Amino acid sequence: MTDSKAVVAGKAPMPVEVVAGKAYFWCTCGRSKNQPFCDGAHLREGTDFMPLKWEAPESRTVYFCACKQTAGAPLCDGTHNRL
Ligand code: FES
Ligand code: FES
Repeated sequence: MTDSKAVVAGKAPMPVEVVAGKAYFWCTCGRSKNQPFCDGAHLREGTDFMPLKWEAPESRTVYFCACKQTAGAPLCDGTHNRL
């Protein structure tokens, strides 16, 4: 089994224009090359992580967490400032 800790993919949130009712699969492991979303790397790299499904409540710009340490997954809660 590989390292079971989430990789810090970035230390700033990633703004994304989301669409109401659409589901997004946020990368929890930090290994995706398509941040902030899952690209299957959690499986390829043999981790125990699973993507987090999140449905947009409304169409607007949201700030996804890239550091993977947020307490408000999948959105940034400012934790990256303390890394
Ligand atoms: Fe990170 Fe899928 S690649 S959860
Ligand atoms: Fe992770 Fe802000 S980018 S908490």
